[in-house]
Amino acid sequence: MIEFENVSFEYEKGHPTLTDISFKIRPGECVGLIGANGSGKSTLMKIMLGLLSYQGNVTVCGMPVDKKNLTEVRKKLGFVLQDSDSQMFMPTIFEDMIFGPMNYGLSKEDAEKKVDEVLDCLGIAELKHKYNHKISGGQKRMAAIATIMAMEPEGVIMDEPTVALDPYNRRLVMNTIKDMDNTKLIASHDLDMIYDLCDRVMLIAKGKLVADGDAKAVLTDKELLEANRLELPLALT
Ligand SMILES: Nc1ncnc2c1ncn2[C@@H]1O[C@H](COP(=O)(O)OP(=O)(O)OP(=O)(O)O)[C@@H](O)[C@H]1O
Ligand SMILES: [Mg+2]
Repeated sequence: MIEFENVSFEYEKGHPTLTDISFKIRPGECVGLIGANGSGKSTLMKIMLGLLSYQGNVTVCGMPVDKKNLTEVRKKLGFVLQDSDSQMFMPTIFEDMIFGPMNYGLSKEDAEKKVDEVLDCLGIAELKHKYNHKISGGQKRMAAIATIMAMEPEGVIMDEPTVALDPYNRRLVMNTIKDMDNTKLIASHDLDMIYDLCDRVMLIAKGKLVADGDAKAVLTDKELLEANRLELPLALT
């Protein structure tokens, strides 16, 4: 579903941000992406979404991620960026959310039904007609997640989905993610969440993929985690 082959990237010439990254994510997998601040997680996700131009090969559902395929790639992948402010395009939550399902051919009526279902499921029906710039950080996060759920993409790319959420909403979002059967890639410092949700974990350090394997194997490897500025999930201590 998503394939990186020898991918490298630098924001500034001579300062590599990602170096020679290769991996494959198969349909239905739920993969965690972990690593210290500045290790390159968000950059990797932006490359996958065609937001940055890179060296090497990246494909989504067999399509190379390039300018020509961008619209098709974005139909396949729903995303929650680290900074939710930069991903809401319309003034209100409702307008943002209805865009996806209408784009996929639902009538306005059915699309609104879908939007209402998702809002109810996340317990945020009261945000429906609120303005994106007039809600709290955690509410923005919930709205961003609601927007990709309404869209029902084949794959979801989530950069820190639970950051800024209160414990109740964190749990709600985790359960929601668990129930989604799309292919998932989740970047987070919340290693307990990653442990709970993911079958596989990729660890990135200074732009290099230093581990890629069974979630339990990676997340119980204290030495590996500590060498990379991470700690064992609380559930495993
Ligand atoms: N727009 C940019 N221009 C130049 N350098 C950037 C830019 N965005 C990020 N970087 C640098 O690229 C490196 C990787 O950043 P990235 O945001 O991918 O890290 P991250 O793993 O997502 O970190 P965090 O855990 O803090 O979210 C960092 O050294 C960062 O300073
Ligand atoms: Mg990041």
